[in-house]
Amino acid sequence: MEGLIKISSISKTYRMGDVEVNALRGVDLNISKGEFVAVMGASGSGKSTLMNVIGCLDVADKGSYSLDGKETSHLKRRELADLRNSKIGFVFQNFSLLARTTALENVELPAHYSRGGKKVDHRAAARAALVKVGLGARLDHMPNQLSGGQQQRVAIARAIVNDPPLILADEPTGALDTQTSLEVMALFKDLNNSGKTIVLVTHEPDIALHANRLIKMRDGIIISDELMRK
Ligand SMILES: Nc1ncnc2c1ncn2[C@@H]1O[C@H](COP(=O)(O)OP(=O)(O)OP(=O)(O)O)[C@@H](O)[C@H]1O
Ligand SMILES: [Mg+2]
Repeated sequence: MEGLIKISSISKTYRMGDVEVNALRGVDLNISKGEFVAVMGASGSGKSTLMNVIGCLDVADKGSYSLDGKETSHLKRRELADLRNSKIGFVFQNFSLLARTTALENVELPAHYSRGGKKVDHRAAARAALVKVGLGARLDHMPNQLSGGQQQRVAIARAIVNDPPLILADEPTGALDTQTSLEVMALFKDLNNSGKTIVLVTHEPDIALHANRLIKMRDGIIISDELMRK
């Protein structure tokens, strides 16, 4: 399969005054297009740091990272932002929706940041994404008028509105009950089946089972990486 993420020997150290934390200590990772990868590991093992690097939200101190054939380590902030907007959709534990803003407007937002040169109807794209996640009847609802699972589905619609090849989800079911978590995972599975590459962090083994590959981290390194039989 064609490569999407190529990470070699990346390290990341956070400095807080005199204290140094080696959040990533030499990570190598290749992910192909179409994979569904779960990342597990104890709190503080570096999962979110790795996701932030993959998501071009942060840059590693050492090593190289290429996303869809583009080496990122020398990119300027603006170039990273453009790469991020065209290639990646994000889903977080706390949904990160704007309050007092309708589902439709929340999903429309990232469409405005995409600079593909194509003339696209942002509103139509947002509506289509909400229909795709099963919220076609909730377009004008505010986040506080939606259940947790529905809010997370709005966040997923927002993640896919620009049709990025990669979706990064950091504990997307962490704030949801079991039933709702399963619905959200079914949605990720559908997106994966339609060709999206997904990297998902979770603390829950049952959630990780929905992926096709399981990576475990400890103290800033990958300690195991296995394909899961379906
Ligand atoms: N912005 C930051 N400044 C300083 N230290 C940080 C920062 N972000 C993370 N760290 C430290 O880096 C290490 C890895 O953190 P990270 O957030 O990647 O862990 P995690 O595996 O996502 O944990 P959790 O499961 O609790 O979310 C931790 O020791 C953390 O305290
Ligand atoms: Mg984390």
